Amino acid sequence: MAKPTVLTGITTTGTPHLGNYVGAIRPAIEASKDPAVDSYLFMADYHALIKCQDPERVRQSSLEVAATWLAMGLDTQNVVFYRQSDVPEIAELNWLLSCVASKGLLNRAHAYKASVDANLEEGSDPDKGVTMGLFNYPILMAADMLMFNASKVPVGKDQIQHIEMARDMAQRFNHLYGEHFALPEAVVGDDAAVLEGLDGRKMSKSYNNTIPLFLPEKKFRKLIMKIVTNSLEPGEPKDPDTSTVFAIYKAFATQKETAAMRIRYEEGVSWGEAKQELFEYLNAILAEPRERYNELLANPAEVEQALQEGAVKARAYAQPFIARLRQAVGIGAMR
Ligand code: TRP
Repeated sequence: MAKPTVLTGITTTGTPHLGNYVGAIRPAIEASKDPAVDSYLFMADYHALIKCQDPERVRQSSLEVAATWLAMGLDTQNVVFYRQSDVPEIAELNWLLSCVASKGLLNRAHAYKASVDANLEEGSDPDKGVTMGLFNYPILMAADMLMFNASKVPVGKDQIQHIEMARDMAQRFNHLYGEHFALPEAVVGDDAAVLEGLDGRKMSKSYNNTIPLFLPEKKFRKLIMKIVTNSLEPGEPKDPDTSTVFAIYKAFATQKETAAMRIRYEEGVSWGEAKQELFEYLNAILAEPRERYNELLANPAEVEQALQEGAVKARAYAQPFIARLRQAVGIGAMR
């Protein structure tokens, strides 16, 4: 039996932060070590263009994201690690799927609907600022998954709908043209994988409350010192379960260390001390990868080399598959 294919993508619009690490990077690196699955991991740079039309930002983010994965120990021998735009077959599949996806299905996509609702609320034209890229976003994402017959797709909750839409498109295509696609399934991380940010809300670029993974040490410490706390004095017992400082510690520490820290809170550790310990703990984990990350940023050719090797592997699968799909829909070479 063929191994299950696990595939996920990261949109390259931001600088990777602790929340990305806990929610996506760490589990994917763990999963990539599993010899029982075929792992695909890619930089969704076509998707980035939907959200960000600043070329420098997209370029820089692509480099930062790729360097982060490599610095954190992604084993590129075990994973197909590539850039979406290096696999033009994905863009072609995007078209084939566009021709089977119903507009009504895409009308229901949350991201698109949110833009329309915001426009209506302020009394503007419903389509104001809505590009076809945004509208077609779920089709491109379906192409990402179906191109490699992904069976398991690790994502955040907000992406579940996109995977359901991909199944819908795959079924329609299969119905019309024969069984070509496996139906992907979402694998949603548990809530423990959602990290709180500086202000206690979910750590997210859109809340501007992130702690970037590879800030220089001093800046990193400074940000950790800014995590919100209540105003309990040193010596007063503190509730670890409502503390963001504790929650972040817990996301990294072992069970034993977490239990010990819990007692310190109950005994009234000061917020300053609790933060200093969090800083020291994280810094010990991140110091070495940070060095490697900085090396890679200074040496983009090395990152590029890894991505090119990944593109070769990805295309070895995608090229014959797209040729078959072309035949299936009737546009392939004359025979
Ligand atoms: N849309 C995803 C996100 O914003 C990124 C993504 C693009 C993706 N293509 C994908 C995730 C395919 C999984 C599979 O998080």
